[in-house]
Amino acid sequence: MKGLFITLEGVEGCGKSTQIRLLSRFLTEKGIAHVVTREPGGTEIGDKVRKILLDVSNLRMEPLTELLLYAASRAQHVLEVIRPAILGGKIVLCDRFFDSTLAYQGHARGIDPELVKRSIEIATDGLKPDLTFLLDIPAEVGIERATKKGVDRLEGEDLVFHKRVRQGFLGLAKNEPHRILVVDATCGVDELQTKLRHILEEKLRQWR
Ligand SMILES: Nc1ncnc2c1ncn2[C@@H]1O[C@H](COP(=O)(O)OP(=O)(O)OP(=O)(O)O)[C@@H](O)[C@H]1O
Ligand SMILES: [Mg+2]
Repeated sequence: MKGLFITLEGVEGCGKSTQIRLLSRFLTEKGIAHVVTREPGGTEIGDKVRKILLDVSNLRMEPLTELLLYAASRAQHVLEVIRPAILGGKIVLCDRFFDSTLAYQGHARGIDPELVKRSIEIATDGLKPDLTFLLDIPAEVGIERATKKGVDRLEGEDLVFHKRVRQGFLGLAKNEPHRILVVDATCGVDELQTKLRHILEEKLRQWR
């Protein structure tokens, strides 16, 4: 049986990494084989690309270069980690995937959406998440949470940019309401985790 591909999306500081850790614990307790991974990165090669993308000194990076670096990291990730895990019947929990590229590089950065979609198509060869949690939070709140741990190149973008990212995500959810579930992430960690587990349990029932 095929596995399940689940992604977590949302602006910086919305709680993706926190929630994915807790979801992993939940699956471990249930004895369900799964893989936890993230983008950019998720592979040895991808992690090197990630370093380039998040390096604050790369101020001159062209938007197109950035787009193609995300695509390069993703191609390696899909081929080396995600597809094999899904074919092996595992659940894949991925911290960011192509919806982030659509929201950041497409909607917020303003790269031609067709070009963004083409780069995604090439990198994923059509692979799509079965379920995407969009952890929705006002950009200000997310940034405030995230900057407690220091600012990287992307977090250094201004508030207007992050607001556009949020709107980008919400637009994607509107277009694909069956795949992308918007979850209010302004609540506490445990409350949010309870909401996610309910949705995940329902998905697991359908899957089995
Ligand atoms: N529900 C919550 N309420 C308050 N603080 C939270 C909540 N969830 C996470 N945090 C805190 O906010 C910060 C950011 O959380 P986390 O790293 O999980 O977000 P993220 O979405 O992974 O961010 P990034 O996009 O920067 O990787 C952390 O310090 C975390 O402890
Ligand atoms: Mg994170």
